[in-house]
Amino acid sequence: MKFVLPRGRLLDDAIELLRQAIPSLTIEENRELIHSNGDHEVLLAKPADVPTYVEEGADVGVTGRDMVREKSADVFIPLSLPFGVCRVSVARPEEETSSPEGMEGYRIATEYPAITREFFRSLGVPVEIIVVAGSTELAPRAGMADAIVDVVQTGNTLTANGLEEIETILESSALLLVNRISQKTKFDRVNELIYSIREVIKNGT
Ligand code: PRP
Repeated sequence: MKFVLPRGRLLDDAIELLRQAIPSLTIEENRELIHSNGDHEVLLAKPADVPTYVEEGADVGVTGRDMVREKSADVFIPLSLPFGVCRVSVARPEEETSSPEGMEGYRIATEYPAITREFFRSLGVPVEIIVVAGSTELAPRAGMADAIVDVVQTGNTLTANGLEEIETILESSALLLVNRISQKTKFDRVNELIYSIREVIKNGT
């Protein structure tokens, strides 16, 4: 089976979960992006790319619901996983008073252009979306944006940058993704894996 796991915040929990579900799986702690052992291959990718890898042929992946929604990935999602809990929210400088409804013409910086576009379109509020690749909180401070749509976990990064969360667009946590073809052609192995992961979660890891 070919797995693709997200580098960054979710990685340790994802590895731990898989190690418990598949005791024969080993992943060396080094900077290699592909780890092979016997039956299994593990790829380490950017969280935003995991849905694409699973769509394009990896059998199983782990990434956040936010990334799956942003990419509109056509993958099978059998399980929500108990880590990576966060939300995607609209935030704006503390001294501003506007709600999302009052943001007509605002420049919104985000790593999530699709989610942001869909949200403001659903409100009927036209905005300009400025796509950044991270450190989104910087954009209002640098005068490049009027507000942001970004991931919030503890809220510390917003506070430290004088921003206030005003509306949650999406609640997120890690998900298990399965390639739609693998789900059929490797039916037994995929089901066995889902069952094992469910057991690990049930036993509280
Ligand atoms: C994410 C997100 C926020 C921060 C939120 O950034 O973009 O900056 O975490 O976490 P908090 O609410 O606990 O402060 P990440 O560290 O993943 O890096 P990035 O900004 O490069 O995306």
